Amino acid sequence: MPVPLLDLRAQNELVRHEIAEGLQDLMNRSSFILGSHVSEFEKEVAAYAHTKYAVGVSSGTDAQLLALMALGIGPGDEVIIPTFTFFSTAGVVARLGATPIFTDIDPSTFNMDPSSLSSSLSPKTKAIMPVHLFGQIADMPTIMNIANGSGVPVVEDACQSMGARGWGREAGEWGSMSSFSFYPTKNLGAFGDAGLTTILDDDSLFKKIKRLRVHGMEPVYVHHEVGINGRLDEFQAMVLRAKLKHLESWHEGRIRNATWYLDRLAHLDADRIELPSFKIPQGRHIYNQFTLKIKNGQRDAFRAHLGTHGIGNAVYYPICLHEQPCFAYLGKTQGQFAHSEQAAREVVSIPVYPEMNHQQLEEVADVIESFFH
Ligand SMILES: Cc1ncc(COP(=O)(O)O)c(C=O)c1O
Repeated sequence: MPVPLLDLRAQNELVRHEIAEGLQDLMNRSSFILGSHVSEFEKEVAAYAHTKYAVGVSSGTDAQLLALMALGIGPGDEVIIPTFTFFSTAGVVARLGATPIFTDIDPSTFNMDPSSLSSSLSPKTKAIMPVHLFGQIADMPTIMNIANGSGVPVVEDACQSMGARGWGREAGEWGSMSSFSFYPTKNLGAFGDAGLTTILDDDSLFKKIKRLRVHGMEPVYVHHEVGINGRLDEFQAMVLRAKLKHLESWHEGRIRNATWYLDRLAHLDADRIELPSFKIPQGRHIYNQFTLKIKNGQRDAFRAHLGTHGIGNAVYYPICLHEQPCFAYLGKTQGQFAHSEQAAREVVSIPVYPEMNHQQLEEVADVIESFFH
């Protein structure tokens, strides 16, 4: 029985009626840009993430870009990011003419290792962007300590981690701003591209982001600065509001499946396969991905084995950011970020979506076990 990496059809059934009605209503009102769905969704996410403000935007990438633009980041500035993550975190820094400063990850969490943070700081550092990868919050108490000590703002990349928690606080509740993505494969996914920037409590950053989202315009046709067209569509906000009501139960389903895998696969040889671990106090991993590490150069063979048995899987991410061709000008060499490079060689994510039934979980676990026996 094939098991896909993700199957959104069951989720869509749950909200089909509400979204169909919402679409009829939108067509009747013919109001598609920055309407009540966007403003209500912004309030709902701000409440969810425990922030004062939220601004709906066109993607997670634009959420990151707008946060850095609001801080005035540009040529000559540096922004510290992990090298093992999705491209956009470095892309937005470079797009603004600033320099991404890469750091290595903690191999047990895949998140930024704060121990190298202090040595990465310089007088040019204008922001630190930790990523909460795969649904797990980064070591925010340590990162915030270092950032606050040096007066550098923190912009969280919570694109994979809406609802993740650690040390009693939500993803998005730490830095001065945070980015969220509603790309369809996220735990809360739109019917296309969508994103959101939260602002912890700073009124002027909130006003700036709202203005930058509409070409720096305020009032209409008066442009104080050059912004972007970064608006969240009313249609996507309507879809996201319908789905947000189910997000907690979807998180619970993912956690249930992950817990089941961790128990069922615990007997496998840790020298050959490493399961994800979660040790953060007062925390919650929301498993946007359930990511294994396959040791001894066996990952490709493992993936081929899963593929032969119809088990969906993917590698997030096969190439570190410092090794991307577009960043060759930064002159980083192989071996400089050893944990990240090793993760890029070993990781593979397997199905963990909430609607998986017991038979599907058993099937995935059986196929994994059969590779190691
Ligand atoms: C960690 C991370 N950061 C940023 C992004 C960018 O989000 P989007 O694809 O919505 O632009 C993503 C989504 O793919 C992501 O996973």
